[in-house]
Amino acid sequence: MKKFLDLISAEVASAFEACGYEASYGKTGISNRPDLCEYQCNGAMAAKKKYQKAPFVIANEVVEKLKANRNLAREQGTTPVFDSVEAVNPGFINLKVSGDYLAGYLKEMAADENLSVEKAAQPKTIIIDYGGANVAKPLHVGHLRSAIIGESIKRICRFAGHRVIGDVHLGDWGLQMGLIITEVRHRKPDLPYFDESFEGDYPQEAPFTISELEEIYPTASAKSKEDEVYREEALAATAKLQEGVRGYHALWQHILNVSIADLKKNYGNLNVEFDLWKKESDAQPYIPDMAEMMKKEGYAYEDQGALIVDVKEESDTKEVPPCIILKSDGAALYTTTDLATIIDRVKNYDPDEIIYVVDKRQEMHFTQVFRCARKTKLVKEEVDFKFLGFGTMNGKDGKPFKTREGGVMRLERLISEINEEMYKKIMENHEADPEEARRTAKLVGLSAIKYGDLSNQASKDYIFDVDKFTSFEGNTGPYILYTMVRIKSILAKYRVNTAAGQDAGLFAADSSEAKASADAKSKNTESELSGEILTPVGESEKALMLELTKFNSVIEQAEEELAPHKICSFIYDLSNALNRFYHETKILAHEDAIQQASWIALLTLTLRVLETGIDLLGFEAPERM
Ligand code: ARG
Repeated sequence: MKKFLDLISAEVASAFEACGYEASYGKTGISNRPDLCEYQCNGAMAAKKKYQKAPFVIANEVVEKLKANRNLAREQGTTPVFDSVEAVNPGFINLKVSGDYLAGYLKEMAADENLSVEKAAQPKTIIIDYGGANVAKPLHVGHLRSAIIGESIKRICRFAGHRVIGDVHLGDWGLQMGLIITEVRHRKPDLPYFDESFEGDYPQEAPFTISELEEIYPTASAKSKEDEVYREEALAATAKLQEGVRGYHALWQHILNVSIADLKKNYGNLNVEFDLWKKESDAQPYIPDMAEMMKKEGYAYEDQGALIVDVKEESDTKEVPPCIILKSDGAALYTTTDLATIIDRVKNYDPDEIIYVVDKRQEMHFTQVFRCARKTKLVKEEVDFKFLGFGTMNGKDGKPFKTREGGVMRLERLISEINEEMYKKIMENHEADPEEARRTAKLVGLSAIKYGDLSNQASKDYIFDVDKFTSFEGNTGPYILYTMVRIKSILAKYRVNTAAGQDAGLFAADSSEAKASADAKSKNTESELSGEILTPVGESEKALMLELTKFNSVIEQAEEELAPHKICSFIYDLSNALNRFYHETKILAHEDAIQQASWIALLTLTLRVLETGIDLLGFEAPERM
């Protein structure tokens, strides 16, 4: 469907043209003075110079033309675009759209399964690299942002009609693996993994649990900082693993298995789903040939034993260091696996675009990787690389978010604290079945976390404020859900009322049959029961309708700019408009059934738009709260 604002602009543009001015002056925007008008065109002022005419004169001519269009439509019984058009000094054109025209647009939107959003004419294949957890390290809040933002970007691009592949790209190939292997070796030197002469089958069972594993890494990491010998050992273990030494490989496989099972559970709790569970190590097979090619084609040179590609450009204002492809000991680095991963992605998925959702402090790394990939022609020129760097999640003290005791906040703990908070609130609000309240708390808690994150522009740091994010009022996830639950409850009551009304006569005849039919009716979809959206009668109703028309353009912007926060601010405005309309209108008690059915249709559409909106953000609404 065309965008509502484009239709409005087109009407004004054709009036400019009919008056002898260039159509482009008719570009119309949403008014920033909603007390005066809904839309505004400032083109007459811009046209002054070219036509050497006072803007007010131009505005008046255009207004007369628009009025003539409106009168003609009324005479012919078609729908005029505008109700009121007015020229205001020094040359503004103030516009109010006609209620019928607005209702007509929303009727079409309600009939459209994509709610007015057009699918991309040329769908792209997009890979989204997000999540980025490191195996054997506990998920912490830093990875939370990547998961939340990436998941939303994935859903938005998919909704826009693209073919989207989400890849978790686990970190499993660097020094961290060497550290874990070294620590296990110190603790249990007799395990067969460390016996180079061992030729049998290694044990099926991992020599550690997930909680042991999570303790092993920080211990090893701390030791390596103090003990040079230990560090050397870990570096050597990393190199051995990358070379494919059998025992190290088997141990690494255990680390992966134990860790991935835990990660799947954690991401599942966040409503985050990856299409691919690829890892840095999956790029290893490409590395030798890649290094060979870079040398042979003259892109790479050797420097103190290391293999290097220069990626600086003349226009650089900041120094961009060269890419190290292989260290002097032959080990692969983070840059190496990222480059080789590009080869894998091109080969298997032929993407048009790769989007990386990673902490913005890694921007330089990606600048190097993207430049190197282009320079060494790992990708076709048309392939787009996008780096979506996000800011830090801070605590109220403005420092990176920590536990109350000052430690690193683990994701599991953060989620359970929020859920507990939500559970308390729900039980305070009304008496609820504890089990249902737990389920609801989980849904609402997730909305608090995700909306709190996504409502900020991704690149900015933000303050994770539990009290604010879990509030049912203000610009929060729970407020959006509360609004949706309110609509659901009105619709449910309406359904019961309507079904009861229609079946009142039948009950006398055969009560069991009538009861069955009433049950069936109450299960009817909303659209079957609700009527047509009619011309708005009240001001708050019209405001709600105008808000709804923005949906397709909001989605388009969110997709183009990779900006979920645009969806947040839209659904917040929409929720406010809905609540104002609700407070000013007696919907269920209204005596005119057709008018009532129209409002029900409007609520149904609003609910669908909100449902789509939160789905694109990655959370769901409960039935009650
Ligand atoms: N594992 C990395 C980290 O924790 C993030 C991975 C991001 N993606 C990538 N292709 N480098 O910092």
